[in-house]
Amino acid sequence: MANPLRCEVLGADAPVPLLDGSTVPYANFDNAASTPCLRTVWQRLSEFLPWYSSVHRGSGYKSRLSTVAYDRAREAAGEFVGADPSAHTVVFVKNTTEAVNKLAHRLRLRPGATVLTTAMEHHSNDLPWRARCRVGFLPVRPEDGTLDADAAEAAIRAEAGRLALVAATGASNVTGNVNPFRRLARAAHEAGALFLLDAAQLAPHRPIDMLAPDDPERIDFVVYSAHKMYAPFGSGVLVARRDALDDERGPDQRGGGTVRVVTHDHVGWADTPEVDEAGSPNVVGAVALHEAIRFYRRHGFGLIEQTENRLAARLLRGLLAIPGVTVYGRSDPEDFENRLAVVPFNVQGVPHALAAAVLAYEHGIGVRAGCFCAHPYVKTLLRVGPDEERRMVAALMADDRSRLPGAVRASFGFYNEDSEVDRLLEAVARLARGEIRGEYRLDRAAGEYVPARGEPDYSQSFALACSPRWDRVPPC
Ligand code: ALA
Repeated sequence: MANPLRCEVLGADAPVPLLDGSTVPYANFDNAASTPCLRTVWQRLSEFLPWYSSVHRGSGYKSRLSTVAYDRAREAAGEFVGADPSAHTVVFVKNTTEAVNKLAHRLRLRPGATVLTTAMEHHSNDLPWRARCRVGFLPVRPEDGTLDADAAEAAIRAEAGRLALVAATGASNVTGNVNPFRRLARAAHEAGALFLLDAAQLAPHRPIDMLAPDDPERIDFVVYSAHKMYAPFGSGVLVARRDALDDERGPDQRGGGTVRVVTHDHVGWADTPEVDEAGSPNVVGAVALHEAIRFYRRHGFGLIEQTENRLAARLLRGLLAIPGVTVYGRSDPEDFENRLAVVPFNVQGVPHALAAAVLAYEHGIGVRAGCFCAHPYVKTLLRVGPDEERRMVAALMADDRSRLPGAVRASFGFYNEDSEVDRLLEAVARLARGEIRGEYRLDRAAGEYVPARGEPDYSQSFALACSPRWDRVPPC
């Protein structure tokens, strides 16, 4: 079925070379990592760039225009998740990882405070908290990777008094499972804590509403990334309750733009968001995100959700029919309630990294393989026991990533098509039959397989994708 939204992204049918010398249109199933660029984002930036200039500093027309565009993007980024301008600050950062790190620095925490996150988090909503306080993990069910919401509520109640924050992903980047975040938020608030929604995966696929700042099911903090929302120009967002930030700590990054006044013996910090955005801001990234948000508003989430679910169901039905394929997490093609179109799987006898390489070099299909920056969760899904975990840790610390357990992940965007799913299924069926035509070399340190005869010459597709050779740059 032709997808009417396909023309909305750039490069959807870009031709890519295969090992046998032929060329096929690229099929991208790596949208959970990064999405392509929306055509309308690119067009809007072409309109904006001739007017681009310094933000919040210059007095000229272009500086004023850029400042207004930046401030309007900030409003849109807050509106997109239902922020209340009187209660929330909207801070531009470079991505979700930076947003969580910033919040972990700025959140007011009492000594001995606890943060509870879930056992399905991406490392970015885990490690920043470990650096600041005691962290506990709300349990997931190994059989399908879903959060055990009853046990989670009990764990939250048990921490009441010490608990500062429950920090949960809206949806897993590995299985696509959507968490019951309203329940978690209510439990967090009843325990006297606040609630952070990591919306890196959820925001591109489902609408989000923080609710009123006194609602028991409200979200107090939201983080998300533009590069997963078809606007890959280096911007991300932290929306935070102003009254939960610790102004005594000062900003995590210090410098221009963060102050009211500086003398040699005194610094007066500015208010948020200025204090939280040190240095020249990424106005181009902010404008790109604003245009992507306009796209989501124009199209709504209904068609996006329906398209992605239908395609993932087609993939699941096909994978379950291929002998030797294991799908992790929930695998019922009829049940897309509370899940996104993300499908992790393995092919028996084929290391996940080799499967990803064969899909790329022999079929022109882009996926991600490995642990997806969520080591503990993937080990749970794969039932990696303590002995294997010890061996794995030793190998990884010795710079050998080849023993990293993992899976292949197909993650959908609204622009994918049935014919691409069928190509992926055909390629996986061949893998399962042992049909690998190329020869590959395992790079142990990277944990990747690369063609024995070397990688393609990427500069055929993009001139600057070559080794730097300054002597080739023609003089002006
Ligand atoms: N979170 C991103 C992914 O899952 C990086 O690929």
